[in-house]
Amino acid sequence: MAKALVCYYSRTGNTEKMAIKIAEACRKNGLEADLKKVEDTDPADLLGYECLIFGSPTYYGTMAWPLKKLLDESVKYHRKLKSKVGGAFASSANIAGGNETTVLAILNALLIHGMIIQGEPTGDHYGPVSIGKPDQRSLKSCERYAGNLAALTKKLFG
Ligand SMILES: Cc1cc2nc3c(=O)[nH]c(=O)nc-3n(C[C@H](O)[C@H](O)[C@H](O)COP(=O)(O)O)c2cc1C
Repeated sequence: MAKALVCYYSRTGNTEKMAIKIAEACRKNGLEADLKKVEDTDPADLLGYECLIFGSPTYYGTMAWPLKKLLDESVKYHRKLKSKVGGAFASSANIAGGNETTVLAILNALLIHGMIIQGEPTGDHYGPVSIGKPDQRSLKSCERYAGNLAALTKKLFG
């Protein structure tokens, strides 16, 4: 069975709630899924999954430094993450507070790794976002996103 890692940073629990929902939805849609805090993730861990989904709160319009650190350290495995499925999600305090730029910053790194990214024609186009504590809209977006990434991962990796 193809495996997904949902790896997140969260200080006050908002991003964590999204991460839990995404991991649950990956499992519901036929992937094995591990849920890990960035602090507990070694760059070498990334090699063991077909699908990698990263989440962060928005800090000054971009990802929090612990996630940036992990992604920077993943240079050790440059070219080895190529053709894995990638995804990103983010939380911010405000509407237009930068959650989309945070998602795009994460996706930028995944694209440079050569990963496969899927957009969303309705709802949260780049990846799920929440404003503060994730509401029903945000949690539904997490569920739909995980379902799409699970379907793509199964198509590519069985
Ligand atoms: C250092 C710092 C910078 C922040 N920068 C932004 C920001 O640029 N825009 C915004 O809307 N919220 C910002 N926030 C708020 C967090 O993104 C928001 O509270 C988020 O939901 C926290 O996620 P968490 O509960 O997973 O830690 C910032 C918070 C901190 C601590």
